[in-house]
Amino acid sequence: PAGLVVAVDGTSGSGKSSTSRGVADRLGLRYLDTGAMFRAMTWWMLERGVDVHDPAAVAARCGEPEIVSGTDPLGPTITVDGTDVEVAIRSDEVNAAVSPVSAVPEVRARLLALQRAVIAAETDRGGIVVEGRDIGSVVAPDAPVKVYLSADPAARAARRAAEQGGADVAATRASLLARDRIDSGRAAAPLVQADGAVHIDTTSATLEEVIGLVVSLVESAG
Ligand code: C5P
Repeated sequence: PAGLVVAVDGTSGSGKSSTSRGVADRLGLRYLDTGAMFRAMTWWMLERGVDVHDPAAVAARCGEPEIVSGTDPLGPTITVDGTDVEVAIRSDEVNAAVSPVSAVPEVRARLLALQRAVIAAETDRGGIVVEGRDIGSVVAPDAPVKVYLSADPAARAARRAAEQGGADVAATRASLLARDRIDSGRAAAPLVQADGAVHIDTTSATLEEVIGLVVSLVESAG
């Protein structure tokens, strides 16, 4: 349906990416991973040697990188100044730095403008599933379908560690919880369950079940 935006928010490792891509693929929609944009910004700051724990330094430089996001649910791409960073942005270094960088209001303002431009272009063409932390609350508050995914930390850590080829579960859990704490506690666009969002606990659901639930929400909203 034209104009459709599906907002998918939630904690780290709750299944947002797999769910969002699956829903977009099933419904023939485009897909935007806003976390990848914050990761790309963070990767660029680390490359340039910017102190990611100095908000003024991050704010001063965040207009420089050119970040371009693809919207294919089967093969999302992200480039910074023309370099493909899809793999580089998933590193431990980026995991550790992304939440402080994302808490800087100037970073959020810059990426918000890019996100809204992608959403506007894709809603003209048919619709888009957008995942992040503040999609239903800030980026697309008028989205007709909003979901908020959560899961027990143990389930999230086990899934994410498996995705990363058998990474240490305890370290992965610590990394996820550290990001959640900063993302939920920041002043600018904190992670919250948006007004009107349907909460889905994915702890003991399969990916197919969660995708099916969101698809049925979209169909009943249509
Ligand atoms: O979704 P992902 O885990 O890749 O997001 C990485 C980080 O980017 C989050 O922990 C958060 O700090 C930031 N983020 C954000 N707002 C969004 C999406 C991601 O602050 N809409």
